[in-house]
Parts: sequence; structure tokens; C-alpha cells
Amino acid sequence: MEKSRPVKGTVDKIVDKVVDVVSDGGPSNEIPGRPGREPAPLEEPTEPRAPLPPKPDQAGPEVFTATGRPTDVPPTAWAQGGEYLTTAQGLRLTDTDHSLKAGPRGPVLLQDHHLREKIMHFDHERIPERVVHARGAAAHGVFRAYGTATTVTRAAFLAKDVETPVFVRFSPVLGSRGSADTVRDTRGFATKFYTGEGVFDLVGNNIPVFFIQDAIKFPDVIHAGKPHPDREIPQAQSAHDTFWDFVSLHTEATHHTLWNMSDRGIPRSYRTMEGFGVHTFRLVDAKGATTLVKFHWKPKAGVHSLLWEEAQIINGVDPDFHRRDLADAIEAGAYPQWELGIQTFPDTPEQTFQGIDLLDPTKIVPEELAPVQPIGLLTLNANPVNFFAETEQVAFHPGHLVPGIDITDDPLLAGRLFSYLDTQITRLGGPNFAQIPINRPHAPINDMLRDGFHQDAVHSGVAPYKPNSLDGGCPFFAGQSEGGYRETPVRVPAAEKVREAPASYADHFSQPRLFWLSLTPVEREHVIAAYTFELGKVYEQAIKERTLRTLAEIDSYLCEQVAQGLGLPAPKPVNSLPSVEPSPALSQLGQTWPTTGRIIGIVAAENSDLETVRALRQAILDGGMVPLVIAPAGGVLGADGGDPVTVQRTFATARSVEFDALLLAGTPAPGKDAYGARDAKAGNGVTGTPTDPRVLLMLAEAFRHAKPLGGWADAEQALTAAGIDTAAPGVLVAGSGDAALEEIVRLLGRHRVWDRFPPAVGIA
Ligand code: HEM
Repeated sequence: MEKSRPVKGTVDKIVDKVVDVVSDGGPSNEIPGRPGREPAPLEEPTEPRAPLPPKPDQAGPEVFTATGRPTDVPPTAWAQGGEYLTTAQGLRLTDTDHSLKAGPRGPVLLQDHHLREKIMHFDHERIPERVVHARGAAAHGVFRAYGTATTVTRAAFLAKDVETPVFVRFSPVLGSRGSADTVRDTRGFATKFYTGEGVFDLVGNNIPVFFIQDAIKFPDVIHAGKPHPDREIPQAQSAHDTFWDFVSLHTEATHHTLWNMSDRGIPRSYRTMEGFGVHTFRLVDAKGATTLVKFHWKPKAGVHSLLWEEAQIINGVDPDFHRRDLADAIEAGAYPQWELGIQTFPDTPEQTFQGIDLLDPTKIVPEELAPVQPIGLLTLNANPVNFFAETEQVAFHPGHLVPGIDITDDPLLAGRLFSYLDTQITRLGGPNFAQIPINRPHAPINDMLRDGFHQDAVHSGVAPYKPNSLDGGCPFFAGQSEGGYRETPVRVPAAEKVREAPASYADHFSQPRLFWLSLTPVEREHVIAAYTFELGKVYEQAIKERTLRTLAEIDSYLCEQVAQGLGLPAPKPVNSLPSVEPSPALSQLGQTWPTTGRIIGIVAAENSDLETVRALRQAILDGGMVPLVIAPAGGVLGADGGDPVTVQRTFATARSVEFDALLLAGTPAPGKDAYGARDAKAGNGVTGTPTDPRVLLMLAEAFRHAKPLGGWADAEQALTAAGIDTAAPGVLVAGSGDAALEEIVRLLGRHRVWDRFPPAVGIA
């Protein structure tokens, strides 16, 4: 029998005390990030009890059988039960600290099955990481369809108000499983829809184009981007010779590379990324009429990025920044949301739209030419219970389709259809990975696939072949009216077998130019800086010069500025630059966005105006944002006798990059540990400054990173000591905490205070 009663006695009291400290007395005030279900007691619990249930923000996959049939069993049943430690065979154990030995100093005995089983299992805990997109973070959610797509598709999950469970995994491409999150890279955005008609996977990226036009080049581009094979460096970076060698020789990569060098390559959060299906897909309505479409995910929180210096600091101080951000936001109830939209195009034999080849994955169709029409809302509302079981073992595939959605002849997509199944056999150890809980369809399975490693289904019958009479002829074919999937009968023109691309695929520069010209001056500055940095890390001069040639084909100012940074002459374009119409929709600046889930740091000390700190903390929580109190030491602030204010970060542990905005409750004096010998960030700070030097560093960084910052009381003193002009845009010294917060939140709605640093005059 499982028991779920709370622990009693001394441990109980310690738990209560810890809850008070962590949560200021009430769960509604909790800051996300507590590791376990309950606060940890000081002493090791010894009274037997059942495993704790998942945390309230977590959910495992719904319980379907290996053959896709629903059960009444709650997802917690996936987890282990019972009060006692057992072997994998269910035998209760009395000890797991000592091997069975012939006497305390004697040799270990071979008959110790527990030892052998425990070590055997540990020895095999690792599986191969994904060959690309190895690192990721995922969440459960729900997709609710608006019904607006029913005019173009019969897909049942897109009918009005249908709600479909989903699992979404985000991932950088190049890095290994243990690499840092905020590297410059493309991000995957893969969504598994568990529809009643089978699984539909939309396996996209946060960049709408790809490096290559044909999947046969995928091993080439990935080999070039991955670490050099001799020294296995650099990890999760494109700033190295092999990457730039490849993309400068293989100029169809220019468009995607330019997006990577833009702010899109360093997203602020997975929550603030767009997603794109990249390829053109074919939708089919109830009568069989077809429409070509491109899929778009539009984040409700807006599209926001980091600054490069910020991204670099984060990689050191919090390499799990994106993972943590996603999980914390969901735990805090700030559920990330995206609208799914489609651009629609007539399905003509040419498969082009206004001269743009829809089968070329290096091309976009500007939204001004084909608006994105919203078709549903995705909400991520639960964190996985177990990373390995869910995030690591999920297996997406662009060929997982449902009736009403079909593929096109994009040659990149064709290779993907082959690749994912193939790689998953190795990664997940055999052909039965569709039966892993997170991959199980929510639709009945009757597939006649049999046996193999890790077979979880128990198939009845004797005739897994067709036709048969022994199993009553079962299973049967479904007509379209029974939901049978039929590939669209697209006419393939008579042709010769060739290794060639269509002529239009040779245009490698007009769309990069379109993207460049669509960016605001601030965004263009970031692009120039990114190319200059990345190429500055390249060893070979020839590769830099070759890349400058490609930049010359995009824009002369871009080329000149990067050349200047590299100390090289700027080449002239070989071709005259095409005249293109900019697409303002490609810029991510200029609008106002919700501030839900954003993080505001409040710097305070015992002698600060704590009453206002309490009020602001609550106001920030009420606004759906996260307040983190930063103080000289850990514990609580409460010298004024009011409710204790829990400290989340100390001057030693805090770094500006964690916060979207900073508020100063006055000017904090140096903390007792502000010695350079103990904390290098403090320099020789105790001497001669009224403010802790680590706070000055935080302020200076936040200012450089164009974040809103300010404060009340004598905050001006600290800002001035940090060398900050208090009259600069987005810096405020308010008469009260309320006024400071109000202005900070207003500025946060625009993400950054971009006008603090005017771009170069020549860039517009
Ligand atoms: C438009 C182009 C592409 C996009 C948007 C894309 C997107 C993705 C995403 C999002 C993932 C991570 C899936 C996950 O979270 O598990 C992934 C993984 C992967 N992709 Fe792609 N990819 C593209 C092109 C390609 C091509 C051309 C190939 C090979 C020919 C390929 C091979 C792979 C492989 C082998 C994996 C690892 C899958 C696994 O181990 O489960 N991708 N891709």
C-alpha cells in the first residue's frame, strides 16, 4: 500500500520553517525553481512513505497503451511506487551502501545480484545523443484550433475549438547535450500533435530558411558547423574556420547564415522565438482540393533576442539559461503561447508564388505578399516530469502526417523523411521507439509491425500479414471517409534522371538582400558586429576574403563595415545588386509586447525601504512577472520588523544577465564579502565607494545591454557611481517605488531601450 501522508514530528517543523523562508509564508509568493516537491528537511527522512508526486507544474505523457489505446490510469502511474527500495525485480532491499563481502575487509562476492544489477544498469544509462539538435528543452501543452483552416484542410484537429495535446521540444542545432544554451545558432521548434487521427509532427526551426537546398548536403553543412575533427573544438559555435569555409564556398547558405548573424541567432528565450515549418506543405480539403502553405508560429510574448556580450556572459554564468527560463515560466504560471498561422498559395504546376520558388527552402515569401493567417493557439502549460523519459526520448519525424496535410517535392524535405527514422533506430535502440510513452499516438494502432528490441505491445492473433483469413482478415483498409490517408495524386512532369537543381535555385543573394534591407538600423548594427566577431575568429585569411565577397553581393555598407573590422579591403560586387522591396514584418523591433514572465531584479539591503520592496515584489508577481530580490547576503531582509523578504540572489551570485530590468531600492553599501580576494567581481571595492562594486558591475552591464533600470530613494548615487548618465534613455530615478516600477514595466514592453545607443549614421 502506498502512503501519501505528510512526515510528522521534528522533520515536519523544520519543513514548515523552510517553507516560511522560501515562500514568505504562502505558496502564491513562491519564486519558481524549487528542485523537489517539498522543501528538503535538515535531517534525512527515515519513516517509510511513497514516492512524492510530481510538482504541480509537471505532467507526464497521458497514459495510452503501446497500441495507442486510452486508459483510465493517471500519468503518475508511469512512475515508480511503493515505500521501500527494491531491485528491478521488486525484491525489497535492506541495504544499498555495502557490497556483499566475505567479512568487512574481505573480497566482494560474485553472488551479490543487487550490486551487479545496480552497476550493470548504471553502465548503460547513456544513449547516443541526437546527431544534431542534441541539446533541448521541452514542455507539454495544448493546441486549440480556431477552425479557420477548415476551408483548406480536412485535418480533424484543425476544426473549430478542437483541443489537441502537444509536446514541444526546442533545441540549438550544433552543440552537444551538455553545451550552453545561448550560443549563436539556429533553434529547433518541434511540435508533436497527438491527434485522434494519429500523430502529426511539425518539425521546424526559428529561422524560416535553410542552409542547403538539397538534403544530400546535410552531412556537409553539419560536418562544417560541428567542432573540428582533430581537436574537437569549438563546441556549439559557428565562429570557426570550417563553418565559414563551407558557407563561403556554398553560397546557397548565405540567406540562412545572415539570419544566424542577425538577432535571431541569439534568442532571449524559447518563449520569444518565432517558429517556421520552412518547407512548403500541401493542405487538402474535404473535397480533395489542394493549397500550398507555409507554417508560422508567432509568439504572443513577441520576438526578442539577447545582445552578444550578454549571451557570452550567460554561457558562463548560467549555461542552462533557456532551459531554466522555459521551465520557470511554466512553473510561475506564465504559460508561453504561440499562434499557429499559414501563408497560403495556389497549388499551381509551377509551385511558385509571385516568382518565388515554393520548393526552394532558402527562400521566404514576405508576409506583405501573403499574410500569415492565424489557425490556432498553442499553450505550453506543463513541464515534463522526467527529462530523459520525455525530452530525450521523444522522436519527431516530418513524415508524421494526418489526413489533410501532405508534403511537397522540396528535395530537402525528401531527405529529412528518410533521415529521422533512420537515426532514431540507433538513438533509441531498435525499431520500437514509437511505443515509448512520450511517442505513443493517441489513436488506435494496428500496424502488423512485430517483435524487435523493447517490444512493449502484446500482440494477439496469428496472422500479422495481409491478406489473411486466419485472423478474420484483420486489419482492414480504411477508405477516405474512414480517415484513410491518401497521398495527393500530384502530376509529375516527364523528366530525365539528373543530379541537377532548377535554375531558380541559383539565386543566392536577392533574398539575403531583402532580409538585410528589412532590418532596422539597430538590428543591422548587430549583424555587422556578428559577422565581424565570427570572421575575426577565423584563422585563414582566404576564408575571410571569400566571405567578404558574398557580403558584397548583399550590401556594400555591410561588406565595408565588416571589412573595416577585419582590417581587409572591401571587394566590389560581381553582379549588380538586385532591387528588392523590404519586408517590415522581418524586423523584430518597433512594437509593444506583453511583459508576462519577464524577470525584474530588485537590489535591496537591510536599511532599504523594505515596505516598498514588499509592495513592489507583490505588484510584479500580480503582473505575471518574476521579482528576484538581490541583497548583500542570503536569507531574509526584515530589519524593519515587517514580513521577512526572502533574498533570491546575493551580490556574489547575481549577474545582470539574469534580469530583464533592474530596480534599486536606494544605494546599497558594500557587502561584508566585497573583497577582491574572495569575489573577483568586487575588485578592491571596499575602499572608497559607498556602493557595493558588484552592484556597480550589474548596473553597468544592464546599461550596456540597453535594459531599463532605475530606482528610488538615493538610487541616483549608485547609478552615478556606476558611471551611468541618469538622463540617458531608459534610466530613471523616481520619487517612489511605484513610479519606478510603472516606468520600468512600460519600457519592458518594448524589450530594450534601443535609443540609448544610436546606430551609426551611415547605416540607415
Ligand atoms: C528545413 C530544414 C530542417 C529543419 C527545420 C530541421 C529541424 C529539426 C529539428 C527541430 C530537430 C530536433 C527534433 C527534436 O527536438 O528531437 C531536428 C533533428 C534532426 N534533424 Fe533536422 N531539420 C532540417 C533539416 C534536416 C535535414 C536535411 C536532415 C537530414 C538529411 C536532418 C536530420 C536531422 C536529424 C538526423 C535529427 C535528429 C533526430 C533525432 O535524433 O531524433 N534535418 N531537425
